[in-house]
Amino acid sequence: MTWWFDPRRTYEDNVARGPFGAFAPDARLPEPTAQAPGETFLARPVHRPFGIAAGPLPTARHCAAAFAHGFDINVYKTVRSRAVRAHPFPHALAVRVEGDLPAGGRETLVADADIDSAWSISNSYGVPSSDPDVWQPDMERAAQAAGAGQLLVGSCQGTRDGGSERSLIEDYARTAALVAETGAHAIELNLSCPNEGTSQLVCHDPRLTGRVVGAVKERVGDVPVVVKIAYVRSDHDLAALVASVTDAVEGIAAVNTLPARLVRVDGSPALPGAGREVAGVCGAAIRWAGLEMSSRLARLRERTGAAFVIVGVGGVLTAHDYVAYRLAGADAVMAATGAMRDPALARAVRAVRVGEPTG
Ligand SMILES: Cc1cc2nc3c(=O)[nH]c(=O)nc-3n(C[C@H](O)[C@H](O)[C@H](O)COP(=O)(O)O)c2cc1C
Repeated sequence: MTWWFDPRRTYEDNVARGPFGAFAPDARLPEPTAQAPGETFLARPVHRPFGIAAGPLPTARHCAAAFAHGFDINVYKTVRSRAVRAHPFPHALAVRVEGDLPAGGRETLVADADIDSAWSISNSYGVPSSDPDVWQPDMERAAQAAGAGQLLVGSCQGTRDGGSERSLIEDYARTAALVAETGAHAIELNLSCPNEGTSQLVCHDPRLTGRVVGAVKERVGDVPVVVKIAYVRSDHDLAALVASVTDAVEGIAAVNTLPARLVRVDGSPALPGAGREVAGVCGAAIRWAGLEMSSRLARLRERTGAAFVIVGVGGVLTAHDYVAYRLAGADAVMAATGAMRDPALARAVRAVRVGEPTG
């Protein structure tokens, strides 16, 4: 199997030489579809509110290929206010999960390198970033690669560096302002990064989340902001989180990966280096969590009369999964693992109609 973003290569190799396979510059492009954009996302026309979630699109070349293959809402991978190196290789492994992975991070999963055969994978890249001098012009090129009915979302996050909460908030705001300067059509704030909370993820702390989105909104003007959140188990906590962002942001994307402890068959840690015993799991095993969050967010939106859009993420591997998310209440749907496995996924999604059988 040829991966266009190849989890068997280092992150640096993907950035320097990718995309590969079907997304490579010399690969044959699919026939363009003739139909006019028929839907909207964040008040912009889109062919289909479907695209690639933060992660596998680390350069403008990757984003341009995604647009050319019919993915209409694409997220340029999370960037930071300064260069940060990727964790040591490997970054991604296959995980063996029977059915749904429970939330909570207490599961231990056997992980191995046979990623071609896996429908769920782990991802432990460490949110690497180049310096803004490098990613800003590249993100600008990525935004320019969007055609009619398409848009580029720039993902970013603050970096804590052991500093105060205030410096983390300021770093979120500064980085988001740098993204806004590139002409990205929307900003996604990653509030679900395990490395940057206090003792927890930013999105699990509604007070901190409220301060982050308030500071960001002051700096980015009219550029729409979407917050990317993790799975939240209790309805009470989810309501508090949503209440902390609804006045400031235009959208909520859920979910990020679910944590699990990764081991080799012999029980030893699967990933090298301290602090990497637990890694994020994505793909089929977390689809339940994204679907559940989409429907709970939709119910909350209806109950409160709020107006945010819902971006459903997690385990979207087929056009059928796209339809399931739309029926659950998601206004837009994104895939990371599924798009990496299947470069033709956007074509399949463009071909279905929500409400019609997908076979
Ligand atoms: C290779 C890879 C890298 C990722 N990097 C990021 C990232 O930088 N920022 C982020 O918010 N999410 C990141 N994610 C998480 C995805 O955006 C998504 O939330 C998660 O993978 C669940 O979707 P999936 O099941 O379709 O993969 C990454 C996922 C993958 C597979």
